[in-house]
Amino acid sequence: MKGVVLAGGTGTRLYPLTRLINKHLLPVGKYPMIIYGIDRLRQAGITDILIVMGKQSAGLYTDFLGSGREFGVNLTYRIQEGAGGIAEALELARGFISDRDRFVVLLGDNLFMDDLAPFVDSYGLQPEGTARVLLKQVKDARRYGVPVFDKKQHELITEIEEKPAIPKSSYCVTGIYMYDKAVFDIISQIKPSERGELEITDVNNVYAAQGKLEYDILQKWWSDAGTFESLQEAGRRMKGMIP
Ligand code: DAU
Repeated sequence: MKGVVLAGGTGTRLYPLTRLINKHLLPVGKYPMIIYGIDRLRQAGITDILIVMGKQSAGLYTDFLGSGREFGVNLTYRIQEGAGGIAEALELARGFISDRDRFVVLLGDNLFMDDLAPFVDSYGLQPEGTARVLLKQVKDARRYGVPVFDKKQHELITEIEEKPAIPKSSYCVTGIYMYDKAVFDIISQIKPSERGELEITDVNNVYAAQGKLEYDILQKWWSDAGTFESLQEAGRRMKGMIP
């Protein structure tokens, strides 16, 4: 199992701080944000990790993380030139993933406390060419991708609605996804959305439409630290997560 952490994008909701430094390097407790996802992967036994980052602050990532040795992982880096969407960033992992690999994708602004290992084990039991996403029950699902569950086969998601005005469930799809190499064929089929991005939700909806999208639900604290409020809360929550 390999890991891919996506840390591209522009972080506009955190302007003006993100004019100076990339969002995923902002402080959360004692560490830059990016470390927490890397540490969750390491803790689940996933040490071969690709980081996809934007050009902004790229040198600071390598200054801080180096080869990854200090953090118990082996890091590879790739640059996403623009900010063409989460699926565009993921496409850059194509050469990192071999035919037999399965991998966990984390959005770099997603911070969470659950152990990934049991979810990774469940994905290991799924057939080739299928995917798994992790969900979290949230107060306001309108900010996120929201799953619609299969009424008969309860382990399946039939559709994900991206930032719906009227959510069909109180769950959100977090930025934690599991795939194998089949995902790259799907990315090459999808078209940019109205906002001009290759959307991860469009990718997941291809799996969902074919009955190939399963899920687990996170039980512990989770947040995406993309706004000032959530960034501050993340700082308080994650304090002490890594000694
Ligand atoms: O956090 C969970 C949510 O993340 C999901 O519920 C949504 O379905 C999913 O679309 C995504 O929504 P956001 O609007 O929060 O995504 P955002 O554009 O803020 O990007 C989140 C992360 O993805 C960001 O921290 C880094 C990575 N990213 C994003 C873009 C647009 C890239 O690596 N490259 C990109 O071009």
